Amino acid sequence: MSLSKEDYPISVLYNFELGDFSPKEKTIARRVSYLSKMFHDRTAAESLIKQGDPVVYETSYYGFKTSLSDMALGVTRIQPGKVGDEYFMTKGHFHEAKNQPEIYFCVKGEGYLLLETIDGEFQAEKWTEGTISHIPPMWAHRTINTGMGLMVFVASYHLSAGYSYEAVEKNGFKKLLVERNEKPELILNDKRKR
Ligand code: PA5
Ligand code: NI
Repeated sequence: MSLSKEDYPISVLYNFELGDFSPKEKTIARRVSYLSKMFHDRTAAESLIKQGDPVVYETSYYGFKTSLSDMALGVTRIQPGKVGDEYFMTKGHFHEAKNQPEIYFCVKGEGYLLLETIDGEFQAEKWTEGTISHIPPMWAHRTINTGMGLMVFVASYHLSAGYSYEAVEKNGFKKLLVERNEKPELILNDKRKR
């Protein structure tokens, strides 16, 4: 087999303090405005946007594309914080391809991974530093930071998995993670009660 340039091994260096790696292809920052419809307290979201629209999470990507494969790496840093009583979280998505799983590895902080199927099966995985979760195909996934500091996780997936945000944008997840008596608590999403 004759190798082309992209078929050679490559390594990147992860920085445990920053929760980031280098070199990388790109970093995308998501602010409250990008997620405003995801949080149940719209008034709290609007007021945060007016106060400077803080960054909720950033994801850095590297796609290790070769002539035969498409394994990719993503590192997401979720800031500590809340919109009203709801913790900072990622938007969440299904994979476009129906046979594509993913591995998430929590390397810093604490929180939850919420998972849901299109038929409404729901599961919440509690995360501490070191938790590794397998996301099977066809489960939407969202991560939430319930700690006082950064939460960082490493994702490994195939580029061909693709992203589908439509269902989550329309309905959110079955449960929301809110603070009650200074502790995280899962409550039913109002949108789904009707
Ligand atoms: O591949 C993944 O699942 C992650 O890298 C996510 O894309 C990342 O955490 C950002 O979340 P979302 O795509 O839901 O905005
Ligand atoms: Ni994914």
